[in-house]
Amino acid sequence: MLVDLEDAYRLIAPRPIVLITTVDKDGRINAAPISWVTPVESEPPIVIFSTSYESDTYRNVSETEEFVLNLVPERIKKQMYTCGKSFPRGVNELEKAGLNWEPSEKVKPPRIVECPVNLECKLDWIHQGPEYVVVAGRVVAAHAQKGAMKAGRLNVEQVKPLLHVSGKNFVIGDHETGL
Ligand SMILES: Cc1cc2nc3c(=O)[nH]c(=O)nc-3n(C[C@H](O)[C@H](O)[C@H](O)COP(=O)(O)O)c2cc1C
Repeated sequence: MLVDLEDAYRLIAPRPIVLITTVDKDGRINAAPISWVTPVESEPPIVIFSTSYESDTYRNVSETEEFVLNLVPERIKKQMYTCGKSFPRGVNELEKAGLNWEPSEKVKPPRIVECPVNLECKLDWIHQGPEYVVVAGRVVAAHAQKGAMKAGRLNVEQVKPLLHVSGKNFVIGDHETGL
């Protein structure tokens, strides 16, 4: 069957969900769930995500050129969803969702305590598309909580990353299958 072209992206699923934390020029914290996200290079380590021109995330990244990518585990799915609601600029979604944060090492946006993996990033480049913006960050510090890695890779049984299918539909990535 042929699928409407605007729905084509829904066929690339499930995708990991991250909470992108940013700050504005006055240091006010923002957090937004994003599932259009992927690493694209390992040396240097570059990750990209896509967002709208209207998002506070884009405005903050344009102003301060830093962000933190926090991997979302299944256990905070409700809090993640709250962060995706529309709040006025300057409102800290982490506070609204009851999530905790701590200072990052190399950038101003904070790391989310409940997220077992945090990648601190500095802006590398921005691609301005007609509707959406692709933001690329160079990872300057990578953190994994105890137990979040196993044999050099993500310990999916322990982390249980939440994966996005579409809308309010998710998959839990909680077991591996080898070749
Ligand atoms: C699971 C999930 C995934 C999302 N993925 C994206 C995405 O990849 N890009 C995007 O621009 N918005 C995405 N959104 C919507 C934004 O999180 C939402 O518009 C949010 O209010 C933007 O926040 P901000 O204005 O604070 O940046 C997603 C929402 C949810 C719940």
